[in-house]
Amino acid sequence: MTVRIAPSILSADFASLGRAVEAVERGGADFIHVDVMDGHFVPNITIGVPVVQSLKRIASVPLDVHLMITNPDRYIESFAEAGAAMISVHVEVLKHLHRTVHAIKALGVKAGVVLNPATPVALIEDIAADVDYVLVMSVNPGFGGQTFISRSESKVADVRLALDRAGNQAAPIEIDGGIDTRTVGRVVAAGARILVAGSAIFNSPDPERATRDLKAAAARALPASATTR
Ligand code: DX5
Ligand code: ZN
Repeated sequence: MTVRIAPSILSADFASLGRAVEAVERGGADFIHVDVMDGHFVPNITIGVPVVQSLKRIASVPLDVHLMITNPDRYIESFAEAGAAMISVHVEVLKHLHRTVHAIKALGVKAGVVLNPATPVALIEDIAADVDYVLVMSVNPGFGGQTFISRSESKVADVRLALDRAGNQAAPIEIDGGIDTRTVGRVVAAGARILVAGSAIFNSPDPERATRDLKAAAARALPASATTR
């Protein structure tokens, strides 16, 4: 499994999202990460279905939609119709996670589950065989530009063990929060294979180059043995 980069448009200029997407695609972005926040699950409000619809028209790479909302079940179908290729939901808000994961898959969309920094890995043990990916939050969700929480490294390793134990070697681990050229090596070594980066890319003067640099740094950190993961 190679390492893929998912620039988060949260830190981009919302008045020029099209140009932001083009720039990171030129830099080798593998996905566009879309942070949906409702002002309830997290303190911030961001974007919704119509923006995903517009992004779908211009993006060449798949849209990775991260739902930071209290009632994801209500919106999954709309985001799928709008063009999401991947939808991730937080385990902290779902009483019937199995049902939600399978509802996402039934829409033809890859299903991911997300763990906040203080949420134990044990909560995904019984869904680990069913998911297409697991997203480990390495900051508390809500804002871009926060500091990477070091404990996330061992969390990634623990999630990898849980997925492998469940026989789900194919499911990658995505990591989100505080990822830049300094933190990338540690998280890739721990097993992360999809890297979300917002401020490291869009707060840089050259997002295309920042994407390329992050991807190169990630590839350098990939263990030689990691050819199947
Ligand atoms: C935070 C979001 C992230 C955010 C990451 O709640 O889920 O995707 O954009 O931003 P950085 O890379 O700046 O930490
Ligand atoms: Zn995110």
